[in-house]
Amino acid sequence: MCAPEQRPVLALPVLRQTDDCPDRGDRGNVEVMTTEPAARAASSPIAAGTVLITGPTGSLGRETALAMARRPAPERPDLLLLGRPGAGLEAIAAETRLAGATAHAIGVDLARLGDVRTAAARARELLASEALRPLRAIVANAGVTGSMTRAVTADGYERTFAVNHLAHARLIGDLLDALAEPARIVLLGSNTYYENAFRRMLGVAPSDWRDPIELASPERAPSSLREAGVAYSNSKLAIIYYAHELQRRAPAGVQVSVFEPGWMPSTGLSREMGEPVRRALAAIARIPGVSSPAKSGPMLAAVALDARWAQLRDGAFVVKSKERAVEPFAVDPARESRLWEATAELLERAR
Ligand SMILES: NC(=O)c1ccc[n+]([C@@H]2O[C@H](COP(=O)([O-])OP(=O)(O)OC[C@H]3O[C@@H](n4cnc5c(N)ncnc54)[C@H](OP(=O)(O)O)[C@@H]3O)[C@@H](O)[C@H]2O)c1
Repeated sequence: MCAPEQRPVLALPVLRQTDDCPDRGDRGNVEVMTTEPAARAASSPIAAGTVLITGPTGSLGRETALAMARRPAPERPDLLLLGRPGAGLEAIAAETRLAGATAHAIGVDLARLGDVRTAAARARELLASEALRPLRAIVANAGVTGSMTRAVTADGYERTFAVNHLAHARLIGDLLDALAEPARIVLLGSNTYYENAFRRMLGVAPSDWRDPIELASPERAPSSLREAGVAYSNSKLAIIYYAHELQRRAPAGVQVSVFEPGWMPSTGLSREMGEPVRRALAAIARIPGVSSPAKSGPMLAAVALDARWAQLRDGAFVVKSKERAVEPFAVDPARESRLWEATAELLERAR
């Protein structure tokens, strides 16, 4: 997310030139793809299985689930929708079924690691019952940002790190051996992990990496908009590091990538940012060319499903429809291995 946190109004002249947070030119781009049916491979083995999506009630998750459900039958996977229980979850399950998908909803609060474990067990039961085709992909989409109220989870961890990283690490850890190879894991990244001139101008806080035990500590829970931005960017850097380590540890046929949907102002991510900021973001969202869940959802669906993206692995970073190199500091085997160990310790403590 490149969401402005302090001076959103400054975004307007820049966004007329770009629909996204500008990065480093085209360095690192290796492929441009389209989500048009003719350009998709008809026989993706992933689309012939089940895709689990977290956060299907939100903006991007919802559009991704719908994009998958609306595909023609041979390209349409079964769906396991893991979201906060309630009317929103029931509604997206019903809509995807109406579109033709076999879909099951599992209620989960990702801020409770015990709940995540129960949801993973329920997913395994459904897969074992043959209510669904084999599990071929996990799209770890759910995310939070923006609390200025020192939000801490039921397990006593800083909420942004806990929901964005720890909850997904538990879910993936619990389901890794349930994946049928070939399989894909797509994590949700954000370019806010590093600063560039555009984000500096908008006051978007970059990451400020610390030992993961410290990042999870309740003392690190944000109490200002700036600290909330740092916590978000740290959680998104953690996801890139985790993706690299996960690829080293996953079975050979499980491919790990990270998707960045572009800056989609005015999604649920801004819900805690206050009315003036939300109004400014809603105005920016209406500017032609700005990314939106409706445009980025089908791109995320394609990265999870299509044969065109079958080469992605090792935590490859895809910004909308282009694979890009990450910043040099985002590839760090020592930090990646430390994150893995610390994550295991934090998950163990929460048992
Ligand atoms: N928006 C952007 O510009 C942008 C840019 C880069 C990356 N991303 C990433 O894209 C992903 C989707 O973001 P979005 O913009 O679509 O945000 P969103 O509209 O707020 O959707 C987030 C989803 O996560 C779910 N979620 C959050 N906390 C949860 C919890 N404790 N338990 C269960 N579900 C929970 C939300 O459910 P509820 O609605 O029930 O809370 C919602 O379904 C996130 O990972 C985000 O970091 C977004």
